[in-house]
Amino acid sequence: MCGIVGYVGHKEAEPILIEGLHRLEYRGYDSAGVVTVTGQKLHIRKRAGRVGELVRLLGERPAPGCLGISHTRWATHGPANDVNAHPHLSQDGTVAVVHNGVIENYAVLKRQLQAEGIRFQSDTDTEVIAQLIALQLAELKGDLIEAVQRTLALLKGTYGLAVVSAAQPDLLIGARLGSPLVLGIGDEEHFLASDPSALIGKTQQVVYVQDHRLCVLTADDWHLLDYDRTRVQACVQQFDWDPGEADKSTFEHYMLKEIYEQPETLENAMRGRLCEADASAHFGGLNLDTQQLRRAERIILTACGTSYHAALVGEYLIEEYARIPVEVEYASEFRYRNPPIDRNTIVICITQSGETADTLAALRESKRKGHPTLAICNVVGSSIAREADGGVYLHAGPEIGVASTKAFTSQVTTLAMLALYLGRMRHLSAQQGLNMIRELRSLPDLARRALHCHDAVKRIAEKYYDVSNCLYLGRQYLYPLALEGALKLKEISYIHAEGYPAAEMKHGPIALVDPHTPSIFLMSRGPVFDKVMSNLEEVKARGGPVIAVTCEGDEEAATRADEVIYLPEAPEYLQPIIAVIPLQLLAYHVAVLRGCDVDKPRNLAKSVTVE
Ligand code: G6P
Repeated sequence: MCGIVGYVGHKEAEPILIEGLHRLEYRGYDSAGVVTVTGQKLHIRKRAGRVGELVRLLGERPAPGCLGISHTRWATHGPANDVNAHPHLSQDGTVAVVHNGVIENYAVLKRQLQAEGIRFQSDTDTEVIAQLIALQLAELKGDLIEAVQRTLALLKGTYGLAVVSAAQPDLLIGARLGSPLVLGIGDEEHFLASDPSALIGKTQQVVYVQDHRLCVLTADDWHLLDYDRTRVQACVQQFDWDPGEADKSTFEHYMLKEIYEQPETLENAMRGRLCEADASAHFGGLNLDTQQLRRAERIILTACGTSYHAALVGEYLIEEYARIPVEVEYASEFRYRNPPIDRNTIVICITQSGETADTLAALRESKRKGHPTLAICNVVGSSIAREADGGVYLHAGPEIGVASTKAFTSQVTTLAMLALYLGRMRHLSAQQGLNMIRELRSLPDLARRALHCHDAVKRIAEKYYDVSNCLYLGRQYLYPLALEGALKLKEISYIHAEGYPAAEMKHGPIALVDPHTPSIFLMSRGPVFDKVMSNLEEVKARGGPVIAVTCEGDEEAATRADEVIYLPEAPEYLQPIIAVIPLQLLAYHVAVLRGCDVDKPRNLAKSVTVE
C-alpha cells in the first residue's frame, strides 16, 4: 500500500513525480504529496485526497527542482488529512521522508524524541524517521547516507523509504525492508518507486531492490549498499510494460477495461504452456524436479482476497485431476499457525501483485521450514516471485482496478493447467489430457461470448442497484465463485453481500431472504443442477427475488427465476472462469449506478503491503 516515486536528473522533477503518482494512485488514495530540492531548500506540497487535489495545489504553488520524492498514502497511523500526508519533514526542516510500511516501535521512539524536546506535527509513524535522520545528520555534520543507516538500525517494522535532505541537495536515498522498492536507471536520470508501473514510459532498466539495501542515487550515478556501507552487486533487469497496457483506452474505468481484456489475458496465460505431444502442460519456471513433484503428498495453497478465491477453485481442480490432497489457507492465518506439514508438502502462493505482506510472510515461513515453494504471480520481479523457489507468471499485464478481475481468471486457468500437469504425472490418461487441452484452448472464445451478457447484466443492475443485501449461492466449482461474486459487490458498491454453498443456505442465510434481498444463483451444469434448482425454489417460495446465472439452452431457469443471465456452455471445471464475468459486470454496474468510485473503492488498496 502507499505509492512512492522519486526522481533525480536534469529535468523538472514535479511532472515526472505526478505522472508516477497517477500510475500508483491505486495503491492508496487518502492523500498525496511531493517535496523537491533546489540549492539548500526543500519545497514541500501535500494534500488530503486524491492526486488531483495535489495537482491543484501545485498549480498555485509549483515545486521547482530536478530532484524530488513523492507519495500517495493509504493511511495506517493517523487520519487522512493534510498534516498526516507524506512527505514528512524533520523539525529543523532539513530532511524529508516518504514511507511505505509500518514502524512498529514508533511510539517508543517518539516518546524518547519528545522527551529531548522534538516537536511532532503529525500522528504518523513516518515522522519519527525524518526526526531521527535529522538528528543523526546534525551529529555527523551532513553525511546523509550514514545518518540514514544509523536511523534504520533503530527501527523495527517494515519500510520502503525515500529520503532527501537540504544538506546534500543532489542525493536521493532509498531503503527497503519488507516493502517493495524498485530503482529505475535512465540516461543521466534515476528513479525510485514502490512499484515498477510508476516507471512505465520512463525507463526499461530496473533493479528490484532487496531487503536490507540502501539505494544511493544522483543524476549521474547509482549504487546499492548494504547496511555496513559495503557496495553490493545489483541485478539490472529489463522491464518492458507497454505504456498502452496501463491506460484506460476508451473505457470509462480500468475495471471495465480489465474485464474486457480477459479473452486475451486467458490466451496469454496459456501461451506456449499446452503441449498436445505430451498431452500435458509445460511450465518453464517451476524449478522443482519431477521427482519432487511426483512425491508431493499434499499441496497448500495460500493467498488473500480474490486470489484466495482462485485458490479455492484450485483445490477442486487439483484434487479432481491430480488426486493430491489440497488445503487452502488465508495467508494471514497460515503465517501464524504452526500446522504439522510433512516433507512432501508443496506450498503455493497465489498473488496478483506478488507483494501482499501476509502472502509474502507465509512464503517465508514455509521456506524457513524447508518446504518447496511456488508462486502463481502476475507482477514480474515482485518480492514473492523472486523469493519463491519457482513459479508461474500469469502474463495478464498491469491490473490497475483495485477490484481484481483478469488476474482471477488467469489464476484459475493456471491452476487448471497445473492440475493437468500434476495429473499427467500420476493417473490421467493421454486422452484425458488431450481433452483438457482442447477445453482449455476454448476458454478465450468462451470468455468472448460470455461478454455478450453485458447488456442483460446492466439491465439487472438498474433494477437492483439500491438494495442493501445480496446473497450469492453456488455449489462445487461455483461455490468459490459465489464468494468471489459477493466480494466484488462488497468491494466496489458497498452493498452487504454473502457468498454461500447453495445447500448451506438453509442453515442461516435463508433467514435474510425477503423481497428486497436478491439471491444470485450460480447454476452448475453438472450433477447438482437439480439440487441448486430446488434451493432456488426455496428462496422464491419466501418471496426473495432470484437471478440465475446459467448456460444457454437452460429453459427451466427462465420459468423459475426473476432474471436469467445466459452464458455459453463450458465444462464444469472451467465454469468459474466464465461465470465470473457476469458477476464482475454486475458489481461494476451496480457501483457505477450508486455513484461509487469503481477503480478506487473507499478504504481499499490494490496491494496490501502492511500486515
Ligand atoms: C487486495 C486487493 C484485492 C486482492 C488482494 C490480494 O485486497 O484489493 O483485489 O485480491 O489484495 O492481492 P494479491 O496481489 O496478493 O493477489
